[in-house]
Amino acid sequence: MIIENEDEVTPAVLKAMSGGKDPRLLQIASAFVRHMHAFAREVRLTEKEYEVGLDMLNRIGQATNDSHNEAVLFGDSIGFSTLVCLMNNGMGGATETAAALLGPFWRMNSPPTKNGDTIVRSKTDGAPLFANLVIVDQAGKPIPNVEVDVWHSSPVGLYENQDPEQADMNLRGKFHTDAEGRFWFRSTRPAGYPVPTHAVTGDILREQNRHPFRPAHLHFLCYKEGFKTLITQVFVDDDEYLNSDVVFGVTRALVGNFQKHESGKAPAEDVTGPWFTLDYRLVMEPGTAQLPQPPIK
Ligand code: BEZ
Ligand code: FE
Repeated sequence: MIIENEDEVTPAVLKAMSGGKDPRLLQIASAFVRHMHAFAREVRLTEKEYEVGLDMLNRIGQATNDSHNEAVLFGDSIGFSTLVCLMNNGMGGATETAAALLGPFWRMNSPPTKNGDTIVRSKTDGAPLFANLVIVDQAGKPIPNVEVDVWHSSPVGLYENQDPEQADMNLRGKFHTDAEGRFWFRSTRPAGYPVPTHAVTGDILREQNRHPFRPAHLHFLCYKEGFKTLITQVFVDDDEYLNSDVVFGVTRALVGNFQKHESGKAPAEDVTGPWFTLDYRLVMEPGTAQLPQPPIK
């Protein structure tokens, strides 16, 4: 088709795409084109601005490698990951959900770890944390034998893959719930941390005068046939960034009670100072057990 004017572009593209074989893909691709064209019209996008946008896309790809995923980080920083998460969990967004965004730091093949064991695998400062969790279905019935990946950053605010001082897989472990749906482990209390800001997402945050911090949290990925894979985070309740998480991951249900203990019998003999406990209940929804694409290797 020969394009006569601006108004003819969108219908011409939609028509050209209409032979797509996969109906869902066609729905998504057509909506994408309609919204992109509407966006350009709304802001009257200049050629220079279009160049900047394309350059951003290229730089997101160039900054992504085996140990860093800039695309995930970008999607997180504009709230898109949380939007998609909340639309797809909690019975299609109808009810509260225990789900949260995956983030860029989940790795496959966390070391299998027995309940009660520690996930501290190299010297890691910080107060001891004893976490006790239970996984239940929507009727409150415990779910046994759920495979649970746990990962979190160190008290200096770095994941092991970002930090040569930490052993491989430090602060990561794979657990299984027992007959009562429980799993429990020892670690150190996590700290909040800034997301990586060396690439496009960092440029955007600086331009928008936004801080790069996430409140301290633990990550969980819970997997069992018959249930929708539950990807979530539990946040430290007194963190200063709880109300301004740079990636919009905090929902009310996910604020944990990290209780400080300064006296009484510690849960382990080597604990000499204050320690923390976390007791938390995770609810899995019925659905398909599916692992996400690992954002890093
Ligand atoms: C994380 O919690 O690991 C994370 C999530 C989103 C962006 C960066 C980090
Ligand atoms: Fe994290």
